[in-house]
Amino acid sequence: MRTLTTIEEMRAFVRDARSQGKSIGFVPTMGALHAGHLSLIRRAKEKSDVVVVSIFVNPTQFGPSEDLEAYPRDMAADQQKCRDEQVDAIFAPAVNEMYPQENLTWVNVESLTDKLCGRSRPGHFRGVTTVCTKLFNIVQPDYAFFGQKDGQQAIVIKRMVADLNMPLQIVVCDTVREPDGLAMSSRNKYLTPEQRQDAPLIYKSLAAARDAVDQGERSTEKVKQTIQSVLAESQEIEPEYINIVDLDTLSELPQIQGKALIAIAAKLGTARLIDNIIVDAN
Ligand code: PAJ
Repeated sequence: MRTLTTIEEMRAFVRDARSQGKSIGFVPTMGALHAGHLSLIRRAKEKSDVVVVSIFVNPTQFGPSEDLEAYPRDMAADQQKCRDEQVDAIFAPAVNEMYPQENLTWVNVESLTDKLCGRSRPGHFRGVTTVCTKLFNIVQPDYAFFGQKDGQQAIVIKRMVADLNMPLQIVVCDTVREPDGLAMSSRNKYLTPEQRQDAPLIYKSLAAARDAVDQGERSTEKVKQTIQSVLAESQEIEPEYINIVDLDTLSELPQIQGKALIAIAAKLGTARLIDNIIVDAN
């Protein structure tokens, strides 16, 4: 496995793979790899000849009061995990390599990014879509793999690729969870042992919502109340939003008909945790 730090080296690697007629699967990450990331890598291995994983903590997607400095970084452990998964190349550029001068060109997906996490994280998705565009231009993959864990991100990236005719396919992979249901996240490291005990309530509330829908509940207000009552079992969980939205537009639904995304963001101490499920009312 090779670890490449410059765009020039990455482009040479891609040229070489292409000249051998190989397809390229790409898994963009910010490192601190866990089983969620590894599930994307495994899917990439199944679908493509060569797998590239990027590890880049992208400063342009963090707000001024967010955790850019504190974000966990462990390159040696990440390299070992990628080696174990038989990744072909890691792309791990320095910030200066990706942003050598003030960035004046941004990719912005409208409307979808004003909702859910976009409300409390202005500029976040603009940073994500811009860095993903840059990474797609550098790695030129056939497939890029994203997790359902960040459901809004996956929807925004798919829309960007469709709107801008980017020549790759986005593959969305299921959320990987801890045995108690908590969605795996690099940010779970911020939880104290007590907060870690309460954190699975987020998924428990989503599972209760699914049960309610399965039993015929169609009112989003009622389903939200079910979620709120489960989250209220913890003194420490502070919900930021509980939204039941259309999968394409992310607009709030008054009634659940067909498929819907139920998404939660909540503060638990210093950690901001997100999770979601897709329900089907048919
Ligand atoms: P990061 O948070 O490192 O996540 C990288 C990818 O792993 C994302 O597609 C995310 O949805 C997926 N992922 C994280 N936890 C997961 C879980 N428990 N189960 C399944 N997939 C999971 O998302 C980012 O980085 C960045 O925004 C990035 C796209 C790399 C742009 O900087």
